[in-house]
Amino acid sequence: MALLIRNGEIVTAAERYKADVWCEGETITRIGPNLPAPPGAEVVDASGKFVFPGFIDPHVHIHLPFMGTLAKDTYTTASRAALVGGTTTLIEMVCPARGDDPWEAYELWKANAAGKSACDYAFHMGITRFDSGTEAMVRRVTADGTASLKIFLAYKGAFGIDDAELYQTLDLAKRLGVIVTAHCENAEIVARLQQRLLAEGKTGPEWHEPSRPVTVEAEGVHHLATFAALTGAHTYVVHTSCTEALAEAAAARERGLPMWVETVAPYLVLDRSYSELPNFEGAKYVMSPPLRELRHQEVIWDAIRSGLVSTVATDHAPFDFAVQKEMGRGDFTKIPNGIPSVEHRVHLLYTHGVARGRLDLQRFVDAASTQAARIFGMYPRKGTIAVGSDADLVVFDPAYQGAITAAAQEMNVDYSAFEGWPITGRAETVAVRGKLQVQNGRFTGTTDHGQMLRRPATHA
Ligand code: URP
Ligand code: ZN
Ligand code: ZN
Repeated sequence: MALLIRNGEIVTAAERYKADVWCEGETITRIGPNLPAPPGAEVVDASGKFVFPGFIDPHVHIHLPFMGTLAKDTYTTASRAALVGGTTTLIEMVCPARGDDPWEAYELWKANAAGKSACDYAFHMGITRFDSGTEAMVRRVTADGTASLKIFLAYKGAFGIDDAELYQTLDLAKRLGVIVTAHCENAEIVARLQQRLLAEGKTGPEWHEPSRPVTVEAEGVHHLATFAALTGAHTYVVHTSCTEALAEAAAARERGLPMWVETVAPYLVLDRSYSELPNFEGAKYVMSPPLRELRHQEVIWDAIRSGLVSTVATDHAPFDFAVQKEMGRGDFTKIPNGIPSVEHRVHLLYTHGVARGRLDLQRFVDAASTQAARIFGMYPRKGTIAVGSDADLVVFDPAYQGAITAAAQEMNVDYSAFEGWPITGRAETVAVRGKLQVQNGRFTGTTDHGQMLRRPATHA
């Protein structure tokens, strides 16, 4: 397998220059001007296009039993969706129920992916209870190459852990040098506010946000930071949605804490008003933390530019509108939480970030690829274009104009939160470890090419 990408403009987090990229087997082996195309090589002409490193989505849910139902995607559908959107690596959250055997859950999540993914993937291991077996389990998972954990301060009675478990998890993570990713919302306050709103007859999707106000998320980040400071653990705040939570993370970093911050594509382009759409359509826009008031959006864009926010993920969690979101009609607390977007993250970020002058190309690549590779132990194999790196490459046409529609999407879900939205630029050709998986914007590859990535513990 040999692939030559010619005449493109290579853009990494650090550089921007015109050169050809030559890939032998799964690896980039030469970068330079006017490279020859040996007979039999696959040649892609990237004239007038950008060549980006494969994008990385460090926060997705594919197999997700949650709120009495199961998320709709399989690895086959989600990985195809990722690829047509330019994403070549996914990191999925393993989310065992509190009563599940966590190692069995880990094996189940791995089995769901093995041989069924079109793109590469890795896992964050969810700690949804801490008991006498947790340390051995985490050591085993880490030795298997899953060197990051996921905890929920939210979802009381489901995935959520208490303070004793939080302390023990962070303490263990510090000892093992693994990073802890955390959903930061105060579970107890959310539960109380939900009950209060329902008792007042406030049952529609528009009440989801008031049940989880910004102070609840900010408290979650502050709470995590307090425990992280006392244990020394490295932490990563997932799906940060608001100014107040960002301020807590900034304060933690100013105190010297090794804390990284993620936001997700929906917060950058959607706002709370979508949850007020009539005919229960607001349910399509229910996720947690919730979509916020519009004023938060520019603050988050600013935080991406400044580097306070390291990564832009999706928190992809697909639930059908017709049946699954419907479960919460008459009680917003029963609407399965999640907005599907793994397919559209890169295109939304380019259209609303780069094309609108909010992000430069380097920061775009950094936030959508390189930072995730660095934080989660995959760099420089992933996240850049360099000799020796995996040949995960996106030939991106900045002149393309199109629109997002559910009818055309690869994600196995019956709606798009971005229906009819115009898109500038498109991932036209996508290679995963040297194999062309997307051509002319369409999936043309094989759905068993993806490999699980084993990642070392790098957060000692
Ligand atoms: O609404 C969300 N975020 N759904 C997925 C589960 C989670 O909290 O990440
Ligand atoms: Zn979450
Ligand atoms: Zn999530």
